[in-house]
Amino acid sequence: MDTKEILKKMTLDDKIYHLVQMTTMTYLKADGTDIVTGPNSTMKLDKEYIYDVGTLLNLVGAQTMIDAQTNFLNHSKKKIPPIFMQDVIHGHRTLYPVNLGIAASFDRQLAHDVAKMAAYEASLDGVSVAFAPMVDLVRDPRWGRVMESSGEDPYLNSEMAYATVKGFQGDMGPHNVAACVKHYAAYGAAEAGRDYNTVDMSERTLRQFYLPPYKGAVDAGVKMVMTAFNIVDGVPCSANKHLIKEILREEWGFNGVVISDYSAYEEMRDHGYCADRKECAYLAMDATSDIEMMSPCYANHLKELVSEGKITEEQIDKAVLRILDLKNDLGVLDNPYRSVNLEESKRVQVGPEHRAIARYAAEQSAVLLKNDGILPLSKDIKSVAVIGPNANTGAIHGNWPCGGKIEETITVLEGVKNIVGDRVSYAKGCNIEYDSTDESMIDEAVELASRVDAVILCLGEHQDYSGEGDSRTYIDIPDVQYKLLDKILEVNKNTAVALLAGRPLTISRLDEKAPAILDMWMPGTEGGNACANLIFGNAVPSGKITMTFPRVLGQVPIYYNAYMTGRPKLEEDDFNRVRFTSSYLDMANSPLYPFGYGLSYTDFEYSDFKLSADTMQRGDVLTASVKVKNTGKYKAKEVVQLYIRDLVGSVVRPVKELKGWEKIELDIGEEKEVKFEINEEMLKFWTKDMKFEAENGTFDVFIGKNSACHKFASFELK
Ligand code: BGC
Repeated sequence: MDTKEILKKMTLDDKIYHLVQMTTMTYLKADGTDIVTGPNSTMKLDKEYIYDVGTLLNLVGAQTMIDAQTNFLNHSKKKIPPIFMQDVIHGHRTLYPVNLGIAASFDRQLAHDVAKMAAYEASLDGVSVAFAPMVDLVRDPRWGRVMESSGEDPYLNSEMAYATVKGFQGDMGPHNVAACVKHYAAYGAAEAGRDYNTVDMSERTLRQFYLPPYKGAVDAGVKMVMTAFNIVDGVPCSANKHLIKEILREEWGFNGVVISDYSAYEEMRDHGYCADRKECAYLAMDATSDIEMMSPCYANHLKELVSEGKITEEQIDKAVLRILDLKNDLGVLDNPYRSVNLEESKRVQVGPEHRAIARYAAEQSAVLLKNDGILPLSKDIKSVAVIGPNANTGAIHGNWPCGGKIEETITVLEGVKNIVGDRVSYAKGCNIEYDSTDESMIDEAVELASRVDAVILCLGEHQDYSGEGDSRTYIDIPDVQYKLLDKILEVNKNTAVALLAGRPLTISRLDEKAPAILDMWMPGTEGGNACANLIFGNAVPSGKITMTFPRVLGQVPIYYNAYMTGRPKLEEDDFNRVRFTSSYLDMANSPLYPFGYGLSYTDFEYSDFKLSADTMQRGDVLTASVKVKNTGKYKAKEVVQLYIRDLVGSVVRPVKELKGWEKIELDIGEEKEVKFEINEEMLKFWTKDMKFEAENGTFDVFIGKNSACHKFASFELK
């Protein structure tokens, strides 16, 4: 359709209302009476135009979409169908593990495939835009939204962003959904890990670490960008002209739709950045932000701003046209119901095919943090107990469940039962609440533990303790869980902990005590089956953490790609006190588990490290290679990681940066050579003059199992 022709027929009011986003629920009453009640009533929208808003958010279910769309179009003057947008974060009805888990798989194809599966399910319910991927880089596990993120590395996060966008927007015609990358920018750097808090950093840090993942999504052709709640350098992202107009649109060439976060325009008053909603509207439009989600600054003030000559109608036209073009692109202008399909959604959603993908994803995401050799358990085991507050609950599918349901989620107990049948028994042991001190269930659990051959102890957090608004100041497991563990270990040493949590936890105590720890994150709909498959060796763990696990909270923020400082502490002195070095009086500098860390049931031997040359002319490609051999007893996957360090720069450079990885599978006894190409592009950074280029000098090269690996060669860039 010719969207410019549609635009010509719209009045200024029509256009302004096209920039407004309301909730789907607003449009569900067939008689149109309930349109401005509830939270929407405070928005003081004009009843005449309420059925001409451009987009709707948050709908669950095909029938809801059909009802809302029909009702909307029956009342609409202009009859331009709205598009439906939804938080499809880690699945739609079938949930795969939270995104921090998917990142731990280090599997680009998997990130792509789970997004594709989610897009298909969501599209059957009438969703056209997914508010995902969330790619905020994060170094502070107190922040609840770490579960939605890929973690602390700019390169890994960009790769995952790219793959996810391609998965959502792929090759399924009307079943693709448009991706909306968020939250632009640097939302994950909230001070003290407190949600919505201040973000303040240099332009260099922003560009070097925080922006690349959003850029990765833009490079993949993402159709929409959502701005963040926070400020950056004193300016709210919602109206940050530097971020939106200069960097996103002009530098990166993004021509798609920019949307605010939920009521974030009007929150610029609360930030103390705007005196009133009119100023919010002015600054957001001036920054070229298009859609206002759930606040009324545009609806109530843009017309006035146009009549005063502060905003031109042309600016508004451009924003409306971007939205119309997106609708056209999605096919909504031709078919308002697009891909919605009641029968197919019933058949496919949480059906066997999608469950299989979710199960595989959860197996690939899990990280074996410790194993004294008790895992895997034998499937012939005579008796096993599944114990703990996360053992017999479907509330392990993870926050942001979209259409996912607790009752459709396989519990760990069910998963174990699916393998060993009635040889499993269960006790709860304690409650999951972070403030629970109730020890009354411990004795029964210990008695059970004393009678079985092995215990699978499901500890961690409740799934609602990570997610939006779920920041925490204490991120160890509660004392009552430690008491349960201690008492069980007194009677049964054959105890493996399955950890279920949406974030890295400070589990030094757990690491000391538990013979084995398998981090399942929040594993999604098939979490219980995946966990059982891993515990009994039907699958072998291969995930690697993408956020550093601190020893204690006092080390936070802690991340692997930090700078050296002028008084570095030597690695061999980590646990000694060396005064006047950059260190702590009472704690090592090293983390409990470094970025990239994760064990397997097998062993991998690395040998024959090689670098093809020790100098690189600009434009050259060097090859770094290593041989990896499976020397253990299980066929398994390994994530081989390449890191580079730029020794001297016009500004200081990180001690290590991830520059590549390969996930390989090796049979028992098999050996493979893994090769990485190193080119000039990979050596670029934001120099003293804020140019993105590589500087001459020496670079160290590291290949290993995790970010704590050591350098094996150096080369000179000339
Ligand atoms: C969140 C966004 C989300 C939006 C719509 C906000 O509170 O920050 O991530 O997309 O709500 O549900």
